[in-house]
Amino acid sequence: MTKPKHILLIIGGGIAAYKASELIRLIKKEGMTVRCVLTDSGAQFVTPMTLAALSENEVHTTLWSLKDETEMGHIQLSREADLVVVCPATANLIAKMAGGIADDLATTLLLATDTRVLAAPAMNVRMWTHPATRRNVEQLRRDGIIVMQPDEGDMACGEYGPGRLPEPPAIMAEIMDQIGKSRPGASLLDGQPAFAPDKTKSLQGKHVLVTAGPTREPIDPVRYIANRSSGQQGFAIAEAAAEAGAQVTLVAGPVNLPTPAGVVRVDVETALEMEAAVYDALPADAAVMVAAVADWRTDTRAQQKIKKQKDGAPAPLKMVENPDILASLGKHEQRPGLLIGFAAETEKVEEHARAKLAKKGCDWIVANDVSGDVMGGAENSVHIVTASGTEKWERLPKPEVARRLVAKIVEEI
Ligand code: CTP
Repeated sequence: MTKPKHILLIIGGGIAAYKASELIRLIKKEGMTVRCVLTDSGAQFVTPMTLAALSENEVHTTLWSLKDETEMGHIQLSREADLVVVCPATANLIAKMAGGIADDLATTLLLATDTRVLAAPAMNVRMWTHPATRRNVEQLRRDGIIVMQPDEGDMACGEYGPGRLPEPPAIMAEIMDQIGKSRPGASLLDGQPAFAPDKTKSLQGKHVLVTAGPTREPIDPVRYIANRSSGQQGFAIAEAAAEAGAQVTLVAGPVNLPTPAGVVRVDVETALEMEAAVYDALPADAAVMVAAVADWRTDTRAQQKIKKQKDGAPAPLKMVENPDILASLGKHEQRPGLLIGFAAETEKVEEHARAKLAKKGCDWIVANDVSGDVMGGAENSVHIVTASGTEKWERLPKPEVARRLVAKIVEEI
């Protein structure tokens, strides 16, 4: 019989602490075991007795317990867990975690652990939107900690906005998603997060091909057709794959980004050049086609600047369709074992993505809602659409989307 998964639940001090009791019930319902650590301020809201009764385990409150240090040290407490969950993660706890402060049992465990950590924030809306908290949350995500988005709504303090603890079933769903995954590490490269190479599950020896950025289709010497794309998401995926040990070829359209360490970059301008570079890079174990390829180009490239037409007539342009690189790779005799496409959609995101999955013959579509400020922005809101279903990821910084996607690729191949 396999050992049940074990959660270390750290309960911070906030009115939402009472919801930890409900979370314990849900964790146990999934057949997992749970051990609680209660901060001093958490103990103002829930009692150790309640938590002990619900978890059926001793509740830990202090670093200075000799009994625990002989029978179970604080390091062991964090290492025995398959996932550490901080719920509620108060502004204070988040700040201490971001700063590496270890001044009680909870924060010492959080600093000592190499297990994956999931934080469910709960605080007043002004605390959540304060630049200090924004900074701290950003830092935690860079450090590889999964920080959930708080809910929006009426707050205990009478205000309205984001900051409410996500409902326990939503936290439970995130626990199910994160459990057993390895802890991402932090990269010193450009201050961006990266995937910590995990010797048993890394991409060592695998070739990963990534396309990124827009393509630019010249009309004449001064004009071109292009898509809006900063290339950030594709570059972050290339970096995360390289950090996971893969040999990475990054075929990049015209973007203004540094080449991630350990990545072989091939710069291209047009869709035809991108297609040729992709074929040149084969074979690959996985291909992630993030580029926003221009669907059309003009049939010829004018040698001189095209002058405006008399009487305001439309430009004399004849458009032809560019090759669909992803679709042709889907049918290629050297089709990568795992073929991942992106889908930029402004409406019916999942429906259109599922149609693209079939049409382009790929294994996953990372569907991207680009109706907001995603193009060129720092965050992304994606759905992973596969033959077996759809995973909806919360809005995350693009490097975090990259790390999670690479972790999923590692599991797949
Ligand atoms: N793609 C490609 N070659 C093209 C167009 C798209 O390889 N000529 C790839 C993109 O890199 C992405 C996926 O196909 O991985 C979907 O791109 P998207 O622009 O969303 O879809 P289109 O096929 O262009 O469909 P439409 O514009 O009609 O939504």
